[in-house]
Amino acid sequence: MTTAWAHTNIALVKYWGKRPSAGLNLPAVGSLSLTLDRFGTETSVEIADHDAFLLDGHDVENNEAQKVFLFLDRVRALAGRTEKARVTSTNHVPTAAGLASSASAFAALALAATRAYGLHLDDKDLSILARQGSGSAARSIFGGFVLWHRGTRDDGSDSCAEPLTTSLDARLVVVRTTSGKKETASTQGMEHTASTSPFFTAWVDTHPQDLRDAQAALAAADLPRLGEVMEHSTLKMHATTLAARPGFFYFQPTTIAVLQAVKTLRAQGTGAWATMDAGPHVKILCAPDDAAAIAAAAKAIPGVVGVDVCAPGSAARITA
Ligand code: PMV
Repeated sequence: MTTAWAHTNIALVKYWGKRPSAGLNLPAVGSLSLTLDRFGTETSVEIADHDAFLLDGHDVENNEAQKVFLFLDRVRALAGRTEKARVTSTNHVPTAAGLASSASAFAALALAATRAYGLHLDDKDLSILARQGSGSAARSIFGGFVLWHRGTRDDGSDSCAEPLTTSLDARLVVVRTTSGKKETASTQGMEHTASTSPFFTAWVDTHPQDLRDAQAALAAADLPRLGEVMEHSTLKMHATTLAARPGFFYFQPTTIAVLQAVKTLRAQGTGAWATMDAGPHVKILCAPDDAAAIAAAAKAIPGVVGVDVCAPGSAARITA
């Protein structure tokens, strides 16, 4: 049995939209993220007489299990092996609540499954493999700030992530605004947006400049510049969903209240910038010294159900 741990990552410059490919999860745009130290997935893979998937102690037999078994098929094809496997996962993150559990899930599965089938892939190939389970999983192979290259090849061999070097230290204050599951899964959300939103072309066209700005901000350890481009990328992504047909959105009333509070904090002189993914939660980027006060301010907002201060986390690793 092989066990691996991978941490959640949160995109600062977002991945939103796929280019056409046969299930390879090739992104329409590159993205830049921060791997967190707090949330993640621990996954064990053991060769067995049939494929099975246990999540948080329960046997799973739905679509989610099919995605896991398809992923095992990819690993088996790479390894030239045919045996089945039993996958046991524990999510240390609220599942499907927009906290990117699929990113840590497929990064941990890529690492544990390849080792269980006797493969030792380098980080680039692991990232390419993890991407095929869930796009954002390509980034959770690495720790700290990470760049996922869009790539241009149809086979996806140049669409992998890599870690970025920076002297910038930062915190993400994760503010949970509901305890339920999200309404529109990211794949459906991005596909509907790409095919119906007139803003999607503008999103793709303006995205490379956001990525360049974010990388320049990291190189200069410039938190305000990074925060500004992060918030811009977030609001632009969510604008594409509003303009889809029919339009949809991930905001809940408490989401808006937290976004307002971030603006107020900034007006009062605290460096705080907000991002959101395909869910109603808000993540606030800030300097380490400001994190406790920002977390306290977030906890005081009516409707907020949980606040966690996250630091940059480490790369995916084998634990047993
Ligand atoms: O990896 P997926 O298919 O769950 O897509 C993630 C999409 C966003 O979380 C909204 C943005 C991102 O870059 O993580």
